[in-house]
Amino acid sequence: MNPAEFKRRRRQLMRMMGSGSIAILPTAPLAVRNRDVHHPFRPDSDFYYLSGFPEPEAVLVLIPGRPQGEYVLFCQERDPKKEMWDGAIIGQEGAVAEYGADDSFPITDLDDILPRMLEQCERVFYAMGCNVDLDRRMSEWVNRIRAQSRAGITGPIEFIALDHYLHDMRLYKSRAEVATMRRAAKISAAGHKRLMRECRPGMYEYQLEALFVHHCQHHGARHLAYPSIVGGGNNACVLHYIENKAPLNDGDLVLVDAGCELDCYASDITRTFPVNGRFSEAQRALYQVVLDAQLAAIDAVRPGNHWDDPHQAAVKVITKGLLKLGLIKGTLAKALKTGSYDRFYMHRTGHWLGLDVHDVGDYKVDGHWRELEPGMVLTIEPGLYIPLGSKGVAKKWQGIGIRIEDDVVVTKDGCDVLSCDVPKTIDEIEALMGR
Ligand code: GLY
Ligand code: MN
Ligand code: MN
Repeated sequence: MNPAEFKRRRRQLMRMMGSGSIAILPTAPLAVRNRDVHHPFRPDSDFYYLSGFPEPEAVLVLIPGRPQGEYVLFCQERDPKKEMWDGAIIGQEGAVAEYGADDSFPITDLDDILPRMLEQCERVFYAMGCNVDLDRRMSEWVNRIRAQSRAGITGPIEFIALDHYLHDMRLYKSRAEVATMRRAAKISAAGHKRLMRECRPGMYEYQLEALFVHHCQHHGARHLAYPSIVGGGNNACVLHYIENKAPLNDGDLVLVDAGCELDCYASDITRTFPVNGRFSEAQRALYQVVLDAQLAAIDAVRPGNHWDDPHQAAVKVITKGLLKLGLIKGTLAKALKTGSYDRFYMHRTGHWLGLDVHDVGDYKVDGHWRELEPGMVLTIEPGLYIPLGSKGVAKKWQGIGIRIEDDVVVTKDGCDVLSCDVPKTIDEIEALMGR
């Protein structure tokens, strides 16, 4: 992403903050996996959104109108010995030259420098409760400032939830963000196609998972946005199944929910296909219901409609389908009223998508579902799940889990499906699998 994009975001936030304000935002802590081994580092999404800064141990500070510079970045100091082991550190010079900071200090000086900045400001924009260590230090600094009140220092009088402002900004994707998300979705889409082509009965779920990882990394996406779900047969009915260790059986479907992350932006795609390349009659019937529901939901993604409209569209098609197949009973009106579909479709039809796979942004405003507006990106992912042993359900439907998930951006007059490269009709899937 272009440095100008990050600068524009900082400017926009500072305009909302006004003078006399300070925003303080740490990146994510490094997480220990075991003893000397750490989990791969991933910056905090809010921090990254404003800075593009990729290293751990950093705190971003914005002080609109500060004469010595509005954007201050605390980060690790360069250290030749450490760099010999762990690689280059950006350091204070790099923070200014490459990441657009007006001023940069070593992170080890935070306790000395930040309280002095804090005491000059009336309003503090800070996300309380996200970083225990910084929360504790913040309250120490504020108490120390309060103790100086007889010396004429007042310090902050108002604390404002920074995340609330940032999350609303993050909900509206810029052209550059949509372009990055489209690239991420394209890589993932090609990965899903490869899995359809290479899947064979007798392979293990983790082998499909490995193919997907290989594909994404091979195409420049070094990380996935979330752990892949690869569930054959009945395993597809466990919504967050990530064990991925069972063999894939001839005659079963396999559900693959997997997406890469590119420049910290997520893609999130699900496809369900027959392990042997041919849908059975029962699989075909259920699959078509989910696909029709997904297409109806995508059709409801347009400006003016609200957040819940695609879900209601999906629910209606799924309820009709379940009635027709005899999986639920009664009239359509009554079934919709009682929500009897939710035995087989127990999640919602999507979520916001962005730097986080379940991205930030309110779904309701003043108690009403949020209106969809151009630049918002969401997933559309209805499904049907009928586990083995489902009481009162004919055997032929049991052990089938299906979800179809695409990434969709709201446009001026409708929407654009970022993940449209992966086939999803029965004919297209069977043709691609070639068996
Ligand atoms: N992969 C997580 C989800 O689909 O929401
Ligand atoms: Mn999703
Ligand atoms: Mn998903």
